[in-house]
Amino acid sequence: ELQFFFPQEHTLALIKPAAAKKHKDDIMQKVKEAGFTISKIKEEALTHEMATQFYKDHKGKPFFEHLVTCMTEGPSVVMILTKENAVEEWRQLMGPTDPEVAKVTSPESIRAQFAQDILSNAVHGSSNREHALESIECVFGEIDID
Ligand code: TYD
Repeated sequence: ELQFFFPQEHTLALIKPAAAKKHKDDIMQKVKEAGFTISKIKEEALTHEMATQFYKDHKGKPFFEHLVTCMTEGPSVVMILTKENAVEEWRQLMGPTDPEVAKVTSPESIRAQFAQDILSNAVHGSSNREHALESIECVFGEIDID
């Protein structure tokens, strides 16, 4: 089996509150089409602490408080996605941060199709494996992932 050569990786993926309301089914369809295994999924409003953990590298930036507010204002769809190279592949499927850029460079991406603007840009994904492990533990606790 190829899995022997290409070990599975996990990432923390999230549909932000505004998009969870409007585009959940369409985004889930794209997740499945891209071949991710959904190892865990729950719908829940992030706490201030969780949002701060996800975006700790942006603390102090002018958009930080808006970002935390936008992330905690309603239920998100929070998932652990599993696939070989999951961190990078989920970021590819999300597309660039700014949807106006995404529409030009990555028209098939989730942000090109479902983002409102650079802040409310439909989805979140961990930026590297270390962040992924930290974020998974922050949201789901210490768990065994299938
Ligand atoms: P970032 O980690 O740069 O992007 P990504 O979500 O693609 O990993 O930024 C985190 C979030 O911060 C981003 O999804 C939306 C918000 N943001 C702004 O609102 N304005 C900005 O100029 C940037 C760079 C990010």
